[in-house]
Amino acid sequence: MIEPPITIAALRRRIANQLRAGWGDDSAQRPALDAKLLVAHALGADAQNLTLRDDETVPDHVVLAAEALARRRFRGEPVARIVGEREFWGLSFQLSPGTLVPRPDSETVVEAAVAEIRRRGLERPAVIDLGTGSGCILLATLSEVPGAFGVGTDRSEDAVRTARRNAARFGLENRSAFAVADWTAAIGGAFDVILSNPPYVDGDDLPALPVEVIHHDPRLALDGGADGLDHYRKIVPELGRLLKPGGFAIFEFGYRQAAMFSALARAHGWSPTLLRDLPGHDRAAVLTR
Ligand SMILES: C[S@@+](CC[C@H](N)C(=O)[O-])C[C@H]1O[C@@H](n2cnc3c(N)ncnc32)[C@H](O)[C@@H]1O
Repeated sequence: MIEPPITIAALRRRIANQLRAGWGDDSAQRPALDAKLLVAHALGADAQNLTLRDDETVPDHVVLAAEALARRRFRGEPVARIVGEREFWGLSFQLSPGTLVPRPDSETVVEAAVAEIRRRGLERPAVIDLGTGSGCILLATLSEVPGAFGVGTDRSEDAVRTARRNAARFGLENRSAFAVADWTAAIGGAFDVILSNPPYVDGDDLPALPVEVIHHDPRLALDGGADGLDHYRKIVPELGRLLKPGGFAIFEFGYRQAAMFSALARAHGWSPTLLRDLPGHDRAAVLTR
């Protein structure tokens, strides 16, 4: 039977209802928002302007494509992975298999970095982001500080390629460079600012992560060892060598790791100032001497 053509608004409702029916009342899920992003992707359209086109009719192949995307979503694939991008700090970052999906918590690091750079009056700061992933923390920071230059490093070649593409996407390629590196090994030079969101999931939490994370984010971006602090133990002792005198570092960590991270930082001569994320967890710290 041939169905009459449906509008974009009707297709969004249909996809949202399909997801809602599958998920039940799981309040952690957002069927209407996911439906909008999936329908926009099936149409090859910009999700932000989709509602302006609500009355347009949709060709059958787009309906089928949107329903296929909804099935992937229902099986636990995050929308960001399906559509290949995620918004962070108002910028749309391309993703690839080697990149973590940027999390809103990490905007805490950007906010603090920009505030501290401005407070110190640094006009041309040299910034390095260790474990840059999609480049989200570094590129968001550069987008706010027009005179800044930044280096992003990662052990994943795929992540480094994607971060470089994102830099070009935002017109930041002339103020950034990306390289494959194992934390601080092979890195020299004097930076005003070090930023890092290393993998920090501990051995107890790793097996309990939701499907969206454990099956779709790279393990290299998650695993922080038994207590989650393995990577900080490698990076923090190197900060003095990499920072200019008076420079500062900002680290993100897990919402239960503030005390352990602070003790580690103090043991290496750094004073941590804790920063809260939007839900109110201690989520990051600025380290100064
Ligand atoms: C939690 S993710 C953060 C990614 C990105 N900065 C963000 O906030 O979305 C940690 C990143 O560290 C990288 N990484 C893991 N081990 C590394 C190592 N030994 N040296 C450099 N980067 C590493 C991972 O590939 C991943 O991109």
